[in-house]
Amino acid sequence: MERTLSIVKPDGVSKNLIGEVIGRFEKIGLRVVGLKMIKLSKAGAEGFYAVHKERPFFPSLTEFMSSGPCVVMVLEGENAISRVRETMGATDPAKAAEGTIRKAFASNIEKNIVHGSDSPESASFEIKYFFNSLGICERDS
Ligand code: CMP
Repeated sequence: MERTLSIVKPDGVSKNLIGEVIGRFEKIGLRVVGLKMIKLSKAGAEGFYAVHKERPFFPSLTEFMSSGPCVVMVLEGENAISRVRETMGATDPAKAAEGTIRKAFASNIEKNIVHGSDSPESASFEIKYFFNSLGICERDS
C-alpha cells in the first residue's frame, strides 16, 4: 500500500474539474484519505516546488500556483504514485497519451491541471507539506 500527494491546480479548479480529477483517481481504485482546498501564497508555492528553484520556469510556475485555490489530496492504494502519474499523463499535454487527464484538459506544460508526486521521497515531503496526521483518515475500504 502506497500514498501519494495530488493537487488539482488553479486552472483545474477554475475549469470546474475538481470532481472530474478525483473521480478518475477513484475509478482506478485509489482511496482519498486526505482532502482540502487551499490558496497558496507565493512563498507557499516556492516551498512546495523548492526542488525546481533553479529552473527557468520557477517564477512563472509559483506565480501560477498561487494565483487561485487548489485542491490538495492524499491518495492511497497499490502503486499509487505510478498509477496517479499514468492517469495524469505526461507533463506536457502535447506529449500526453489519449485518455489521460492532461491530454483531455491541460492548456500547456505549465497550466496542466494536476500534480502528482514523482517518487516515494517526494510523496513523503509533499504529504507532510500539506497534511498533519489529523488531516489523514485511515480507511478500511
Ligand atoms: P508538476 O507535475 O506539478 O511538476 C512541476 C511543474 O512545473 C509541472 O507540473 C508544470 O506545471 C511545471 N513545468 C514543468 N516543466 C515546465 C516547463 N518546461 N515550462 C513551464 N512549466 C513547467
